[in-house]
Amino acid sequence: MKPEEKRDEIIPKAVYNVHKIIMDRAEDFLLYDNLGNEYIDFTGSIGVLNVGNANKEVAKAIKEQVDKFTHACFHTYMHTPYIELMEKLVKITPGQFDKMGILLNSGAEAVENAMKIARHYTERSGILTFDYAFHGRTISTLSLTSKVNPYKKGFGPFLPEVYRVPYPYCFRGEKDFQSEKECADYYIKILEEHFIKYFDPETIAAVIIEPLIGEGGFVAAPLEYLKKLREITKKYGILLIVDEIQSGFCRTGTMFYWEQTGLDYDMITLGKSIAGGLPLSAVIGKKELMENIQEGGLGGTFGGNPVSCVAALSAIKFMEKNELWNNAKLIGERVIERLSEIKTKSKYIADIRGKGAMIGIEFVKDKRTKEPFKEFVSKLISKSREKGLLLISCGVYGNVIRTLMPLTISNKYLDKALDILVSLIMEVEKEYE
Ligand SMILES: Cc1ncc(COP(=O)(O)O)c(C=O)c1O
Repeated sequence: MKPEEKRDEIIPKAVYNVHKIIMDRAEDFLLYDNLGNEYIDFTGSIGVLNVGNANKEVAKAIKEQVDKFTHACFHTYMHTPYIELMEKLVKITPGQFDKMGILLNSGAEAVENAMKIARHYTERSGILTFDYAFHGRTISTLSLTSKVNPYKKGFGPFLPEVYRVPYPYCFRGEKDFQSEKECADYYIKILEEHFIKYFDPETIAAVIIEPLIGEGGFVAAPLEYLKKLREITKKYGILLIVDEIQSGFCRTGTMFYWEQTGLDYDMITLGKSIAGGLPLSAVIGKKELMENIQEGGLGGTFGGNPVSCVAALSAIKFMEKNELWNNAKLIGERVIERLSEIKTKSKYIADIRGKGAMIGIEFVKDKRTKEPFKEFVSKLISKSREKGLLLISCGVYGNVIRTLMPLTISNKYLDKALDILVSLIMEVEKEYE
């Protein structure tokens, strides 16, 4: 029996595969399946591979650590990889204030812990989230996540005391905004109305925001909105949690996207590309919040596993040494340049947006009505795979192509991938004429 057939017998379809191929090995931004086919990876396995797959320096660090010891639960006895990594993370995360942090296994677990810390410190229970948000798949993070099918359908009831407000997704707003400022003002007004109509801001422990939405469609909130949001959180004693699990680690042209806002925050959640492909996540926050919790109140068996920690130290060193944030800027500029060439000709590309190499291309059936065109994106993904390019979509409506390629991709292969993408967009367009 072929592995893909065996898979169908013993692994449920709920554990979805975007690409029904079996991976054999990877070389940085290239991937080879078990039939020997080569693919350029624009998915980064959902934003995890900013330093490339099987990065040689990360692999070396892992091998060395594995020969020393593979596990040390930090609650039983300490190890220096955890401490050294935290020393690095508190240094490279935005903000000049005193910080502390904890290590965990997954993005969802980081978000869960940030919620716990916020509730503990504020002695409030409410959490404010946004539509289009994605913060994970555990019951409490699902309560924050926005897309119903497939993420939430059938899994309720969800956490009480979670309140949701509209995200300033200006392109898909209720009206055509003439400027980002107009969009920001409009959505701030809606937020303030929620405080009158639906809930008391003084019961809210924290607001959690993806400053650049990932799963929900690659949408950056206007800076003006974030500034006002920060003022509002301060006014009501609400903590601000910035979720950079997808946008972090050089993807947007800086080590973290929040740096570009110049704003203050209380906690930041990190994951995905943190450890060059190994499972690890973190919550970094203001010292007074983190230190407020009783001894033993946070943690878990595997959080801060030493192999993951050395992988993270090595991945971050690689990012800094190669100034990977600059690669992100150059990649993003090239993607935008190539796609903009066909945007005006295209009937269905309605928006190209993003920061650095975190670019979203939104497809609609009609540029006036902006009706999402998911089928177009699905066709594009399967046809691209046949030509050797692995793509992935996002968006609550599944109508956005997102770029999450390793930031190590060479110009030659970036151009090859963009040639495939651009020519296939025009080819699929013809099918709808
Ligand atoms: C912004 C954001 N937060 C949280 C998560 C959850 O991370 P994980 O899948 O590692 O639990 C994701 C995953 O896509 C994410 O993009």
